[in-house]
Parts: sequence; structure tokens; C-alpha cells
Amino acid sequence: MEVIESQIDTAGDEYRANYERMQELVEDLKAQLKKARQERSEKAVKRNQELGKLTVQERLDRLLDRNTPWLEIAPLAAKGMYDGKVHGAGTRAGIGVVKGREVLVHANDPMIKGGTVYPMGVKKTLRCQTISMENNLPMLMLVDSGGAYLPLQSEIFPDSDDGGRIFYNQAIMSKMNIPQITAVLGLCTAGGAYIPAMSDHVVHVTGTGAIFLGGPPLVRAATGEEVTAEDLGGAMVHCRESGVSDYFAEDDAHAMQLVRDITALLPTVEKSRVPTRAAKPPLYDPKEIWGVVPKAISTPYDVREILARIADGSEFLEFKALYGPTLVCGWTYVHGHQIGILGNNGVLFSDSSLKATQFISLCDRQGIPLVFLQNINGYIIGREYERGGITKDGHKMVHAVSTATVPKFTVIIGASFGAGNYGMCGRGYSPRFLWMWPNAQIGVMGGEQAADVLVSVKNDQLARAGQPPLPSEMVDNIRKPIIQSAFNEGNAYYSTANLWDDGILDPASTRDVLGLAVSASLNASLEDRNQGHGTFRM
Ligand code: COA
Repeated sequence: MEVIESQIDTAGDEYRANYERMQELVEDLKAQLKKARQERSEKAVKRNQELGKLTVQERLDRLLDRNTPWLEIAPLAAKGMYDGKVHGAGTRAGIGVVKGREVLVHANDPMIKGGTVYPMGVKKTLRCQTISMENNLPMLMLVDSGGAYLPLQSEIFPDSDDGGRIFYNQAIMSKMNIPQITAVLGLCTAGGAYIPAMSDHVVHVTGTGAIFLGGPPLVRAATGEEVTAEDLGGAMVHCRESGVSDYFAEDDAHAMQLVRDITALLPTVEKSRVPTRAAKPPLYDPKEIWGVVPKAISTPYDVREILARIADGSEFLEFKALYGPTLVCGWTYVHGHQIGILGNNGVLFSDSSLKATQFISLCDRQGIPLVFLQNINGYIIGREYERGGITKDGHKMVHAVSTATVPKFTVIIGASFGAGNYGMCGRGYSPRFLWMWPNAQIGVMGGEQAADVLVSVKNDQLARAGQPPLPSEMVDNIRKPIIQSAFNEGNAYYSTANLWDDGILDPASTRDVLGLAVSASLNASLEDRNQGHGTFRM
């Protein structure tokens, strides 16, 4: 394979300015992540200690194999929502290694409002279950939750993608033969009682863990019966009398050990094979990506400069290099796994769309995972291009990406606007994972363009009524709020808070994250994929 030769002047002023700006963004990201992991009220910390419980981090430290990677999922979900303190939507989740096996871990944080489940918490749990199902990863649940966050119960309970879906998915996962192990480390109340009940293995900590359909306050209100949580649904009750729980644990540390032991006995999984070779680092330091990405999202740059800092040995076999130049695609290896990778070098034209369609279908036929690096303002527009059939050529790409059955991974490295988001495997196209860089922006279109569209619509209305166009101060009144809302709702933090992605990445970590994600995806079979496609409009 050829080696990409970087054209970047790492001693130049532009590089330095870009680097410093991305450094700021990454430092801010790290500060936000630290806050999400650590900011807990004194009262909650004290209460956790009084109860003799470990923190979520301590639980994870005991559960996961030492010195193994941890790919956290949506650590900034719900950021800025509710009272601004429901960090990670009240849970920590990620893909880690337990007894040598890749697993998905989902843990309630009892130090955030008693581990109660907010609407975004439901969304995050459902997302984790989807990841578990798509990648055939055993799911380990560390439950410690006061159940539904009652003031928002109408947003959690009734709809098809609300709380009930979690238990529905558990049944489906069981049918799919995906192991589910639950550690009961605190309350599993009401619907929450089904999390252990519907798992294959239940570990139950005495003294703190309790499972019941109605807690003591509800029992008192409904029947007048006075009963403690331990007497109603503690480990002795469920391990000795009801049979709901399977393994009796003395404390959190013992529970984590039992979960490890159970995981070790799970049937082994033959991972899918994609072509591999020995991994080697890129020739260029991945951290140089900080200096490659221009400060302004609208400034074009060559996506090969990113590939050179992601790919093993900076090697890349480019497909149709001279055709459809605004879409760069080809084959490479990341941490030893062969992938097909596509990146934008401008808007998508008919030729670049057709090239992408062919490349995606080739990778799908050959069983090669696909990686999309999105930096896209959309498909080309205008009279000439409509006549040339851009809509039908764009459709072919959207069709190919929808029907591709190999694992797909998307990183939004800059702009993600309009139908470009679709063709380049946005969230709606079921990539196994999707991440944003901190500089990324997402929306139907950029704020400036949206503002121009609205002003133009208004002027057309006025023209139809025989009136003059809007005066400049009225134009400003229309433009400013739409530009502001596009900025507020189009930035990476808004996206990640809403779980439109699986997390914001330091661009320098992209290669490692992709390596972990491709590895995790290979737990699911590539053999019996329902390959093929529907009708292409020619
Ligand atoms: N909805 C909304 N808020 C809840 C809640 C719920 N279901 N359960 C607990 N909280 C809040 C508390 O009001 C408290 O808020 P504050 O920090 O602002 O004062 C915080 O969560 C912690 O609760 P607290 O009772 O002080 O902590 P704890 O560690 O002693 O106990 C629980 C935690 C979860 C065991 C206990 O709060 C409880 O039993 N909650 C009710 C559980 C229940 O019956 N849920 C039914 C819903 S399906």
C-alpha cells in the first residue's frame, strides 16, 4: 500500500494557530468529562459511605480487567439538562474487558439523585442495549436506582421507546442468546425489579441490594403493612426464599468478584474474521490532527491529512483517486483491522456519490467494515446539477449506506449538514458507533444558510403582495435568532447531551477508539448477513 505523504507544514503559523485552538477544545472536553465523573454532592457522597457502598468508579475498577481499554459510551449524555447535574444521564456505561472478554457494562450512579432514571437515562440504556445486540456483547448491569425519576414520569413511562422497552429488549436479548448479568447493589424498584428478573444471572448484595415491585412506602400506603427494604426484597429473601436472585454477595467488592467469575464461565464467542495484519502506528503523530483541522469549519482541507494520522503506517490504497475527487475513499488498516474508509473533500457531486456507492457496495460484498469521516455541507445544488441527476445519484449513495450490512462507524470531524449527514452514515443509518469531534457541527444546514433561506422566503411573500423587500434591521431580526439557535443546537455538546452520538472524542484518540470499536463489532457474526439492496434509480 502507498504511504500518504503529508503536505502540512508543522512549523507554520497556521498549523500552530489550529493546534492551539483544538488544544483548548480538548482541554475543555477533558474538564467536562472530569466534572461528569466526579461532581457529586457532599450529601450523596456521605450517604454512599454510610451505606458501605463503593462508588461507581470503584465498582468498575474491581470489575474490569486491570490495564485494559475502556470505551466509554455517552459520558456527557444529558449535559446541561434537568438541573445540570444529572451527569451521564445518571449512569456510566462502556465497553470494557472482563476476564479477557469484551462486554458492555451499564452502571447506575446512586450518587446522582439516588440513581433515579431520567428520560435521557432511559434513552442511554436503550442505546446500550442496541450496542449490545448489534455487536453481540454480553451486558453487565450494576443496578442501584430509585427507579423512575417521578417528577418526569410521563416522559419515561408510556411510549414505545420509554422504560418498558428496556425489559422488552432484555427478553429479545435473551432470545438472541446474549448473556445478561445483573449485580443488585442498591434498589431495583417497580419496573426496575425486572432488570434482575429478566437477566440470566443475578448477584445480590446483602444489606444494600433490594428488589421489589413496590417499595416500603408504597406497601405502607397500599396495604398498611410495615416492612423494611431488606425484609421486603433483600438478598436473604431473594436468594433463600423467592429464588429471584442466584448469588449471595457480602458487599460490593464480593459482588464484582462474582460477576467476574460468572463472566469467565460464559460460552466463548468465535469473533468474526476481517483481514488483519500486525498493527503499526501511523508515520505521523495522531496529535498533529490538532494542527491540521482549520479553525473555521468552512475552510477546506485535505481529509487525507487525517487519514495519514489514523491509518496504520499512514498507508492507504485509494479507490478511484482521479474520479469524483470531493469524496476520498479506499482501503487501509487501523490497529491491524482492514477497513474501508470514506472522507469528504468538499460537497458531494454526482461522480463522488457514484464512487461512494460503488465503494460501499464493494466493502459490503467483501465483508470489510466501513468508516465514515464526515465533514460535509451536503450534496451540490443548482439547475445544472439537478438536470445532471444529483438527486438520483445521491439516492444511490444513501441507499447503499442504508443497506450495507458490514459494521459501520462514523466520526463527525467537522460539518454534518443536510443530506450529506445521511449519505455519510449519520445516526439514522445505524452505524455501530458514531462520535463527534469537539469542533463538529450538525444540522439541517448551517445557521447562515438557514437564515438566508428564511429571509428569502419572507422577501418572496412580500414581493407576491407587491411590497418592497425587508429593511436591513428586519433582516437582522430574522437572521440573528436562527443563527444563534443553529449554533446552540448544532454544536457537539448539544448533540452528545441528546445522545445523537456516543461521545465527543479528542481527535488524537480517533485511531485508538476506532480500533477498539472495530474489535468489539467483530463479536457479532459477519456470516449470515442479509446482503443485497433494493431498486436503484438509474
Ligand atoms: N424520584 C425522584 N427523586 C427521587 C426518587 C424518585 N423515585 N428517589 C429518590 N429521589 C431523590 C430524593 O428526593 C433525594 O433528592 P435530594 O438529593 O434532592 O434530596 C435523592 O434522590 C436521594 O434520595 P435519598 O432518599 O436521600 O437517598 P438514599 O440513598 O437514602 O436512598 C433510594 C435512595 C433510591 C433508596 C430512596 O430515595 C428511595 O427509596 N426512593 C424511592 C424509590 C421508589 O419507590 N421508586 C419508585 C419509582 S419507580
